[in-house]
Amino acid sequence: MDLNIRQATLEDIPYITSIFRDTIIHINSRDYSDKQVNVWATGANDVEKWTERIKNAYFIVAEHKDDIVGFAYLTKGYYFDGLFIHKDFQRRGIATHLMRIIESQVIDNGYEVIKSDVSITALPFFENQYYDVEKKQIKNIKGINFENYLVSKQL
Ligand SMILES: CC(C)(COP(=O)(O)OP(=O)(O)OC[C@H]1O[C@@H](n2cnc3c(N)ncnc32)[C@H](O)[C@@H]1OP(=O)(O)O)[C@@H](O)C(=O)NCCC(=O)NCCS
Repeated sequence: MDLNIRQATLEDIPYITSIFRDTIIHINSRDYSDKQVNVWATGANDVEKWTERIKNAYFIVAEHKDDIVGFAYLTKGYYFDGLFIHKDFQRRGIATHLMRIIESQVIDNGYEVIKSDVSITALPFFENQYYDVEKKQIKNIKGINFENYLVSKQL
């Protein structure tokens, strides 16, 4: 698939947040309740937080024919904080491509281990990429509990 990977800019925020919202509603809804999905998806509205992420994280987007079809970001130099692929572009290798670049960045930053908290939905993908589950945990967003997994990989 023809993909262009580049750093995110503040102009990308509307596209990034609509992928975030739509992917949660259409893809993560397989594994989470309506109530969980609604609370999680409202995170798209927090433009201030997305601005802060783009400014301070290592934040990359994947473009296909000039449209953003996925994004990923890294914080603290080693923490894989977010990975979302457009609902209509799942299972085409886009996440694998973004992950390779994020992992190279972690190595460039001088770390040997990458960590992430991943959704039930994303766990098979991370396991396929040789991440180990350290523990199953509960994350709280606005008073609602979410089951997820702390994973890591030696690079
Ligand atoms: C998880 C996610 C990022 C994977 O993105 P993707 O671009 O579809 O992944 P890839 O095409 O690179 O997948 C590579 C391989 O991982 C495995 N894989 C990916 N998704 C899988 C799934 N739902 N079930 C089982 N295996 C899966 C497969 O082996 C796949 O290869 P294949 O398609 O040839 O069988 C995507 O499904 C997504 O956006 N999920 C919702 C958002 C989310 O939960 N993000 C994590 C936040 S914590």
